Amino acid sequence: MIPEIQPLEHRSYLVDGEIKPWTGEIQDVYSTLSKTSGASYQKTRVGSVPNLGEKEALEALDAAYTAYDQGKGVWPTMKVKDRIECMTRFVEKMKEKREEVVELLKWEIIKNHNDAYKEFDRTIDYIYDTIEAYKDIDRDSGQFEKYQGVFAHIRRGPIGVVLCLGPYNYPLNETFSLLIPAIIMGNTAVFKPAKHGVLLISPLLEAFKESFPKGVVNIVFGRGRAIASPIMKSGKVDVLSLIGHSTSANALQELHPKANRLRTVYGLEAKNPGIVLKDADLDLTVAECISGTLSYNGQRCTALKILYLQETIKDAFLSKFTEAVDALAFGDPWDKNAFLTPLPEPGKVAYIKELIDDALAKGAKIMNKKGGQVSDNFIWPAVLYPVTKDMRVYKEEQFGPIVPVVSFDSIEHPLNDMAESDYGQQVSIFGRHHTKLARLIDILANLVCRVNLNSACQRGPDIYPFTGRKDSGQATLSVKDALRAFSIRTFLAFKENDINKQTVRDILDSNESNFLNTDFIL
Ligand code: G3H
Repeated sequence: MIPEIQPLEHRSYLVDGEIKPWTGEIQDVYSTLSKTSGASYQKTRVGSVPNLGEKEALEALDAAYTAYDQGKGVWPTMKVKDRIECMTRFVEKMKEKREEVVELLKWEIIKNHNDAYKEFDRTIDYIYDTIEAYKDIDRDSGQFEKYQGVFAHIRRGPIGVVLCLGPYNYPLNETFSLLIPAIIMGNTAVFKPAKHGVLLISPLLEAFKESFPKGVVNIVFGRGRAIASPIMKSGKVDVLSLIGHSTSANALQELHPKANRLRTVYGLEAKNPGIVLKDADLDLTVAECISGTLSYNGQRCTALKILYLQETIKDAFLSKFTEAVDALAFGDPWDKNAFLTPLPEPGKVAYIKELIDDALAKGAKIMNKKGGQVSDNFIWPAVLYPVTKDMRVYKEEQFGPIVPVVSFDSIEHPLNDMAESDYGQQVSIFGRHHTKLARLIDILANLVCRVNLNSACQRGPDIYPFTGRKDSGQATLSVKDALRAFSIRTFLAFKENDINKQTVRDILDSNESNFLNTDFIL
């Protein structure tokens, strides 16, 4: 049952260590959840946030720029152990806000009960794991190497000012999987929450303010174009980190006046295929394809967005799969059994319907009984077959409840389609014959960046590399790889002679350098 909500009127932003009150223009925040239905259906107003503009965006950028101070700031030169202390303080404070944030996740992006809690808890784990991974990196680099008479003390240092933008489907987890490694490595950041999933950041402002020195984390609310464009045009951003669409990434990076200075860390769109071979275990494959295609209604970059079925298993698979799709539980996020939930984007049902209509007009059929049924802000997942290349749903990343199905005789068919595709994130391959699979794995590993054997595509566990080829990504994220992505190797070198050896010994003994030291962080 959808509960009552007291709208959250958020009226501040975090800049230069200050939570600044805002009295200017605001943006209302709506949820497509509603207590009313049918002809009287109306979305629910859940609150409002500041609609900041160029002035406030540049104010936040200046705060980050000054705090970094071209590498001379307090934060980038601080001891690793002290930065870790700040991050530990932050995560402890963040944990206190669990219920508040999860409730807003349910309202704003309509994630089901279990997944909403999972998103919060997974983010907390991610932060603790990041702290441990940074300790490991620091321990490994707290030593000296010597080659050809030159000693080296090699560490990873920060890069500068990071602009951090996340997606609506994981407004907490994915955004923090950029922000947290960025700041712990000594960078400073400007962070703008996603379009949907923005109110849920408001309970965390205080924790950011109290945990980090001023200017390290700056949080602004407003439209992407008004905030991110002037920030990029300034040329003061060193790292653009974004999880979203390649069109946004391209548009923003092109605004930087010196593209050569810009590092990009992107997680972008994908069209991950699930390939079902004739000897696949049917029950296991159906279960994995359900979670792969329809977890969070398919609104995941890692979702299986097209299924390729080998002709001889097609009918048996479709019969079980369509039955399973129609048996899924639908409800609101307070219904603990709900798997499918309403869609948070206002225009999404109409878009999904367009894709279905286009496919039907070009010869596909809806294979499941409930497929395409519309109720207010939800459309029941449609299993479409046969899908052909001229249909929009073949190429477009639907990011919603549609399962396009293609059948094939020869494995060359899906392999060639994948090679031609603009995307290259992951694939799921279902089958058992070791000789066939062995050859396939060799090829698939070069077409995408994660081959899932008899398992749905997914990002987690977060210690594994998350990346993509072609239009699906840039740089690699994972607990450890993200720390690398947001840092650069920098080192002290000295020729071997008595003066240098004594000088370095003196610096180490004095413990006066935060960079040149061999401390072992426990
Ligand atoms: O939207 C893309 C996310 O990274 C997906 O993560 O596979 O854990 O749902 P997930």
